[in-house]
Amino acid sequence: MQSVRIHAFGGPQVLTLETAPTPEPQPEEILVRIHAASINPVDYKIRNGGYVEKDRLPLTLGRDFSGVVERCGPNVEAFKPGDAVYAMLTPDRGGYAEFVAAKAQDCAAKPERLDHLHAAAVPLAALTAWQGIFDHGGVSAGQRTLIHGAAGGVGHFAVQFAKARGATVFATCSGRDIDFVQSLGADEAIDYKNQRFEDAVRDVDLVYDLVAGETQERSWSVLKEGGTIVSTLQQPSKEKAAERKARGTHYMAKPDGAQLAEIGRLIDEGTVRVEVGKVFPLRQAADAERALEEGHVRGKVVLKVA
Ligand SMILES: NC(=O)c1ccc[n+]([C@@H]2O[C@H](COP(=O)([O-])OP(=O)(O)OC[C@H]3O[C@@H](n4cnc5c(N)ncnc54)[C@H](OP(=O)(O)O)[C@@H]3O)[C@@H](O)[C@H]2O)c1
Repeated sequence: MQSVRIHAFGGPQVLTLETAPTPEPQPEEILVRIHAASINPVDYKIRNGGYVEKDRLPLTLGRDFSGVVERCGPNVEAFKPGDAVYAMLTPDRGGYAEFVAAKAQDCAAKPERLDHLHAAAVPLAALTAWQGIFDHGGVSAGQRTLIHGAAGGVGHFAVQFAKARGATVFATCSGRDIDFVQSLGADEAIDYKNQRFEDAVRDVDLVYDLVAGETQERSWSVLKEGGTIVSTLQQPSKEKAAERKARGTHYMAKPDGAQLAEIGRLIDEGTVRVEVGKVFPLRQAADAERALEEGHVRGKVVLKVA
């Protein structure tokens, strides 16, 4: 099969389109013909030398996909050949390829409303948002939430999930994305380059942090006593949390087929929409990663594989 792999860490030029062995599905796995795969920041962070030891090279990047089941391992009952499925992958396999063997429990039926390009944009970003907003953030109706990085892959789902649960949503983004973020349901969108969010919002129950650094540091001042900062990037200061009688959590998102099925239902009923900002063919994976790494993409960057 064709796949995009890296044999060394480095810039986008290390991404190489080449022929690699088609994986064999294990007893609990399904072999999927990939139609589209998405780009996530973790892909270029690994490519740049983060997270992964050198002895795991060569490596196929890509942590999610949408495609069609080709063949099932002997213990798989939930899916059959021909089913359209989507999933977030465990880090030991990659989506920038024509085929992947995915754990059946990590997969869910592709939302019917979406084509493969849009479905591929969902798994990692939406599961990250779901687990951050609900599992770690415990958002409930009537709470005030501040989402940093609201126009990106994870953020645009987080805004919609928090709204769907009945929260009031404040959101930071670039000025050109204000209308987009409001159209997702944000009650107030704040241009992070031209306005200090501290001047626009206070008494927040949950800060969902997709930016880290000084943005996270400054967020303590808008948190209400007993509130929570949840970050995908950086463990919030334990000292600051204790001072404010607050809670700070950093977490890593995990594949979860059941949550992905729930997200698919919200998409099919029209509660949640998916923004794909840019699409590239598989052979232009380097350009696709460059686009996301350079910033300012609205929603997701997706690779068209088939
Ligand atoms: N722990 C985990 O499991 C996990 C999972 C998924 C993602 N992540 C991490 O979470 C981060 C977000 O992921 P993503 O996929 O959503 O990335 P993304 O699609 O690149 O989105 C990032 C967004 O943040 C905005 N932004 C940058 N600086 C900002 C600031 N100071 N204030 C407000 N917004 C700002 C960017 O807007 P502009 O480009 O217009 O500036 C962009 O829209 C990444 O660093 C990623 O590695 C971690």
